[in-house]
Amino acid sequence: MRLLTKLHDEKGLDFSQYRETSILRRINTRMDRYKTDSYDDYIKILQTNPAEYKELINALTINVTEFFRNPESFNAIDKIVIPRVIFSKSINQHKIIRALSCGCSSGDEPYSLAILLLEKLGDARKKFLLNIVGTDIDRDALEEAKNMVYSKNRLKAVSKKLLDEYFEKIGEDEYKLKSYVRNLVKFRYNNIITDTPFLLCDIILCRNLLIYFNKQLQEEVLLKLYECLNPGGFLVLGMVESLVGSAADVFETVDNRLRVYRRPETGSLKPESGSTLSQCDIDKLVKEMLE
Ligand SMILES: C[S@@+](CC[C@H](N)C(=O)[O-])C[C@H]1O[C@@H](n2cnc3c(N)ncnc32)[C@H](O)[C@@H]1O
Repeated sequence: MRLLTKLHDEKGLDFSQYRETSILRRINTRMDRYKTDSYDDYIKILQTNPAEYKELINALTINVTEFFRNPESFNAIDKIVIPRVIFSKSINQHKIIRALSCGCSSGDEPYSLAILLLEKLGDARKKFLLNIVGTDIDRDALEEAKNMVYSKNRLKAVSKKLLDEYFEKIGEDEYKLKSYVRNLVKFRYNNIITDTPFLLCDIILCRNLLIYFNKQLQEEVLLKLYECLNPGGFLVLGMVESLVGSAADVFETVDNRLRVYRRPETGSLKPESGSTLSQCDIDKLVKEMLE
């Protein structure tokens, strides 16, 4: 706790409610580098070598990510979430779609979402304002998100069609995301524990982040995300995460296995639970909406 307090005081990051086992394992990995098992010694190392703070924060903020990570989850976003958001926009005559990727790491997740939205909207895309924000506490990862250059491995879940459409091959094993996709996504430093990320969202992806928090913090964050959603807006969690505590009472479950939840809509105009809109329905709705 003394070490975590020091990290909080010096760097403003509070890891005290992250899962203890995971935090200890990661701190110990850093301590092994210095061949010490004393927390006091490690605190002294931080004092004499402030660059170690960055290494420690990197170790604590695990930022593994890739495009369309957990394809099944992205399939649910594509087939359930996006069509219903477009449906709701058409009913309400709204043309702005706002989405948040909370804990976005180096941006693969919000870029994947942007690609799916572009695909679904097709020609109607120009009539919409897509407002997608990726947030994280890892400044290096946010900076990396702006480079948009990826190895083939990072893109292994991207279909050939999407790869050809949205990426440019720039080397033997390197691809660059096209800038019009990049321009749809804004990146912001934001700590979901202490800050409000982005209000009035239609879609929030918060995947593979809650897993690092203890149950109480998970509940607090889920309730905060609820407040960030428009009525009828969707929350998608990681495949091993779920609603906890009172958050389970406030969200509506759309698909528990795929971790798709929703802030209940107050009005009565909502698609029947479990229904999926076809591309043809969407085209029709979007056309009607734009007329
Ligand atoms: C494992 S990555 C998940 C990336 C992406 N969501 C995915 O599933 O591919 C977890 C991310 O959460 C970020 N993170 C950890 N604590 C956070 C906090 N308090 N607020 C915002 N982001 C946080 C980490 O920096 C890391 O980039």
